Amino acid sequence: MDSEWSRLSTELPGWVEASRKQSSQGKVASYIPELAHAPWDALGVTILDGSSGRVNAGNHELLFTLQSISKVFTLLLALMDKGEDSVFAKVGMEPTGDNFNSMLKLELVDPGIPFNPLINAGAITVSSLIDGDTPAQKTERILSFFRELAGDSSLTYNDAVFRSETATAHRNRSLAYFLKANGVLDADVEEVLQVYFKHCSIEVNCLHLARMALVLAYDGTDPQTGRQLIPRRYVQIAKSFMITCGMYNESGAFAIRVGLPAKSGVSGGVLALVPGRYGIGVVGPALNAKGNSTAGVHLLETLSAAFDWSIF
Ligand code: DON
Repeated sequence: MDSEWSRLSTELPGWVEASRKQSSQGKVASYIPELAHAPWDALGVTILDGSSGRVNAGNHELLFTLQSISKVFTLLLALMDKGEDSVFAKVGMEPTGDNFNSMLKLELVDPGIPFNPLINAGAITVSSLIDGDTPAQKTERILSFFRELAGDSSLTYNDAVFRSETATAHRNRSLAYFLKANGVLDADVEEVLQVYFKHCSIEVNCLHLARMALVLAYDGTDPQTGRQLIPRRYVQIAKSFMITCGMYNESGAFAIRVGLPAKSGVSGGVLALVPGRYGIGVVGPALNAKGNSTAGVHLLETLSAAFDWSIF
């Protein structure tokens, strides 16, 4: 065991307890009513290395929904299904600096395509690009891809969260109709939204997140089996978006303070990776004003500083 891994194993529980205190600065998301039940002061983490080493600390067994973290992986699947040119005919490559559910920029540019695939407008568009004739077929493809990456054939979506979002997503609905009017969405709006809400509702724990991150850390290869699950070029695209847009309009500060490709979700999950080395899954449901896990971001800052993990 190298000295970094042994220090990580020893110190992680203490770092989690120190970061957990930050939870009182944040708030659990409630705009999707079902998410409001999450324990506000939970904080858990799992870190995996490429030779099956694993460290866990805190509430790492807590179940939570992927929410926006799923957007990285639906982008990868759309790239695998449709190729780079078709995907980037429908979504751009630039950060917005606006909130994740904003529709502001859709009116400001011509053609009115979403700025990037990690904002809601972009991810809804990406959902429409997944192969499959029906929403059920698209969802099944997404689930089987996520199951393979997470190493768990029982992975599925949380029906209560799915229904809760379906019943309250007035803003996403307006975004989707706007995209339809702009000719960006070809498919039926409600059908595309069903696919989008289902992949946001896929339920995981920190180990699932860490496994998904590890495949990205190894450029699309599962280090345990040696199988290439995603083409390297597409992982490169996904990691670039994670750096520029993965933490929404806190991505710049996160790049400076942590310096790792990462993606957050409103359930408090954060997926991060140390390229060529580690996959990291974090959950801490209390969110800061930008919609990222308050304690989770604090923990990643601590880890990156302690081990000089920034890629920059
Ligand atoms: O569409 C939504 O609002 C949610 N299903 C996902 C948003 C999200 O996770 C943004 N993350 N910070």
